[in-house]
Amino acid sequence: FLLFLFLISFLFSSIFKVKNGMSIELTCIVDVSKSASFQMQHTFLFYKDDSLLHNTTSEQNRTRYKISPARFADSGIYKCIVEANRKTKSSNDLEVRVEGLCQPKLTALKGEVTEGEVVTLRCEIPEEKPPFIFLFIKISSNQQSQEKRKQELKANFASVEFPVEERDRILRFQCIAQVNSVVGSETSEPSSMTIVTVVEPFSHPKLTSKSPWNITEGDRIDIVCTTILARPYEIEILIQKDRRILNSTQGQNSVTYSATATVEHNGNYTCKVELGRVSKTTSMNIVVAELFAKPILTPSLTDLDENKSLSLWCHINGSPKANFSIVKRPPENGILLKTSSNFTIQAQVNDTGSYVCRAEIKGIIKESNPVQITVYGESIRRFFPDLRETLLLRCQSMFGTPPINYTLFRGNRLIDTITVYNNTYAEFRDRQTKLNSLREYRCEASNRHSYANKSSYKMNITVIAPVRNISFGSLPHGEVEDGGDINFLCVVSEGSLPINFTIFKQNEQTPLFYESIMETRVLWQKKSLTKQDAGKYFCEASNRAMVTERSNLLTVKVILASWQKGFIALFVLVVIAIAAFGFWWCWRKKEKGNNEYLLFSGC
Ligand SMILES: *[C@@H]1O[C@H](CO)[C@@H](O)[C@H](O)[C@H]1NC(C)=O
Ligand SMILES: *[C@@H]1O[C@H](CO)[C@@H](O)[C@H](O)[C@H]1NC(C)=O
Ligand SMILES: *[C@@H]1O[C@H](CO)[C@@H](O)[C@H](O)[C@H]1NC(C)=O
Ligand SMILES: *[C@@H]1O[C@H](CO)[C@@H](O)[C@H](O)[C@H]1NC(C)=O
Ligand SMILES: *[C@@H]1O[C@H](CO)[C@@H](O)[C@H](O)[C@H]1NC(C)=O
Ligand SMILES: *[C@@H]1O[C@H](CO)[C@@H](O)[C@H](O)[C@H]1NC(C)=O
Ligand SMILES: *[C@@H]1O[C@H](CO)[C@@H](O)[C@H](O)[C@H]1NC(C)=O
Ligand SMILES: *[C@@H]1O[C@H](CO)[C@@H](O)[C@H](O)[C@H]1NC(C)=O
Ligand SMILES: *[C@@H]1O[C@H](CO)[C@@H](O)[C@H](O)[C@H]1NC(C)=O
Ligand SMILES: *[C@@H]1O[C@H](CO)[C@@H](O)[C@H](O)[C@H]1NC(C)=O
Ligand SMILES: *[C@@H]1O[C@H](CO)[C@@H](O)[C@H](O)[C@H]1NC(C)=O
Ligand SMILES: *[C@@H]1O[C@H](CO)[C@@H](O)[C@H](O)[C@H]1NC(C)=O
Repeated sequence: FLLFLFLISFLFSSIFKVKNGMSIELTCIVDVSKSASFQMQHTFLFYKDDSLLHNTTSEQNRTRYKISPARFADSGIYKCIVEANRKTKSSNDLEVRVEGLCQPKLTALKGEVTEGEVVTLRCEIPEEKPPFIFLFIKISSNQQSQEKRKQELKANFASVEFPVEERDRILRFQCIAQVNSVVGSETSEPSSMTIVTVVEPFSHPKLTSKSPWNITEGDRIDIVCTTILARPYEIEILIQKDRRILNSTQGQNSVTYSATATVEHNGNYTCKVELGRVSKTTSMNIVVAELFAKPILTPSLTDLDENKSLSLWCHINGSPKANFSIVKRPPENGILLKTSSNFTIQAQVNDTGSYVCRAEIKGIIKESNPVQITVYGESIRRFFPDLRETLLLRCQSMFGTPPINYTLFRGNRLIDTITVYNNTYAEFRDRQTKLNSLREYRCEASNRHSYANKSSYKMNITVIAPVRNISFGSLPHGEVEDGGDINFLCVVSEGSLPINFTIFKQNEQTPLFYESIMETRVLWQKKSLTKQDAGKYFCEASNRAMVTERSNLLTVKVILASWQKGFIALFVLVVIAIAAFGFWWCWRKKEKGNNEYLLFSGC
């Protein structure tokens, strides 16, 4: 038989658009020509995007394939292929667009949350296929919405968390799903509204003042702050002013602050309740009226010379009756001078200082601003030449108030001027002076004191030169005959007079010689030396400069005198002579053959 598969077509034109949720019916028709009338099987194959979707076999020349409900994921390119009696024919492509997405479903983990917790939401779009972008929207009571976006590649749902904020009471949420693919992008309708209610663990605190609205200094202030607890939570409640905590309690629902009002209590009070991450505050302004103004201390003068009269007057604007006292500083607490509004003294230098006055009415004490008083003393009373250091002179004023200008003169010659700010003395060095000379120095001093424009002090000073270069010698040098004399000479090259010279023998405590003389050398004779006087000697010199110089050691030997040497020589000669005579006598006896020979054992 003959068979031709002629036309095969979908019932629709090339692009087919359908709304999401509607159904699509695809009909595949084959036009068959055959030579005889007989029944024949047709295999219909439906493809979407080149992958097999459905196949069916029929004797009919058409078949239908239904997609219901149509979802976005069903968008694509469809075709159908018919096989009959080993012949195949393909239809043209049909593009199907499913428009829109179905509505997502939003659920909240809890329908009621406590402040400080978070709201967990899940948005689901059951019949559609990922990937999706989910958009969560929080609609606040103040109409300001907050959004969170989440991309989901594999699942058809997503979860997010929204923190609960202060003042959140009833929260409304919605979600929207979006899909993007090669066929285009679609956005769903918003989900239906999900409502979450917020439970307050405690109410906003209430801050009240028990005292009347207009408080005056000296009145009592009672501030109470309370909150209402939903359950007995361990809350902390406190009252603060300018970041300073005035009182606080824990585990109670109220706190109080009580005090006697002063102007310092003026201001903004805040009550704060805290529980974990939740904190709520309330503020209140308190105005305290002044009972009386701060006192004013008025001095007659602030800078004055000693012995002048100084008056201090303490008063309050509006002159109400008050108890006054006048206090001087330092020390920190002050010294009470007088419990009266007026105070008059004849000023002394030690009255220099800071003064304040205090006024007391109804137990409220107020202090004036401090007033600085300076009493200037006479600039100079004494002059201290410092003799320890040869060229250093110190000029000092006992009670002078700095700054003081000091000027030093040698004779009529000005040496130096020094201004001191935080001392009462000046130190001068006179480098030009001649040592060992008597000079008249004069020191002048002046300060702001008007009585003594220039105080001066004169003094004659000898500049002392310390002893230097000591040398020690003797005559005769080194050796002295027993019984002979020795002359010691001790000399210094330099040194102011008088000079104290001392001569010592080594290892002996008491000096052999001591003299204070108006010369730079001393000669001392020691008579009739014996062997005991042999040894080492030295000398020392010192003067008012308090420097002691010690000489080299000098060795003294005591030797025999010349007459003693002669005596010894004579004695030796006599002995030799006797021996010679004895010898000669022996020899004579032997020659004569005399037996008397034995008398001389020495022969
Ligand atoms: C399909 O078959 C029916 C009878 O079964 C016939 O009436 C109709 O003309 C055929 N259509 C085509 C296009 O061959
Ligand atoms: C059509 O489906 C049947 C069973 O449903 C299957 O055996 C056959 O292989 C399919 N044809 C094609 C071409 O896939
Ligand atoms: C306090 O308020 C009362 C009533 O408003 C008023 O009569 C009184 O003068 C006020 N006192 C002060 C000190 O402001
Ligand atoms: C602070 O609070 C405690 C307890 O409420 C109270 O006894 C105390 O007087 C308060 N202190 C002040 C300064 O108000
Ligand atoms: C008081 O202080 C609070 C917190 O510091 C502030 O929010 C408020 O505006 C202040 N009120 C006044 C009247 O200054
Ligand atoms: C101040 O008075 C004291 C005591 O009467 C007196 O010694 C001193 O010299 C006076 N000072 C002046 C600068 O007059
Ligand atoms: C205190 O001194 C002031 C100013 O010197 C004077 O006006 C006032 O009368 C004095 N008061 C008394 C109580 O002396
Ligand atoms: C101040 O000095 C005077 C003497 O000049 C003395 O009588 C008085 O006690 C001193 N005052 C103080 C506070 O040291
Ligand atoms: C004294 O005053 C001078 C100049 O004002 C300053 O440089 C110095 O540090 C001060 N010395 C002391 C001990 O205060
Ligand atoms: C101290 O000397 C300086 C500079 O020479 C001068 O300006 C000042 O007036 C002098 N002060 C006094 C109190 O004499
Ligand atoms: C210092 O010595 C000179 C000369 O000897 C004498 O005229 C003068 O008065 C002396 N000065 C003092 C302050 O002693
Ligand atoms: C010098 O001798 C005198 C008199 O003995 C004594 O007063 C003085 O302190 C001595 N000086 C020195 C510097 O040793």
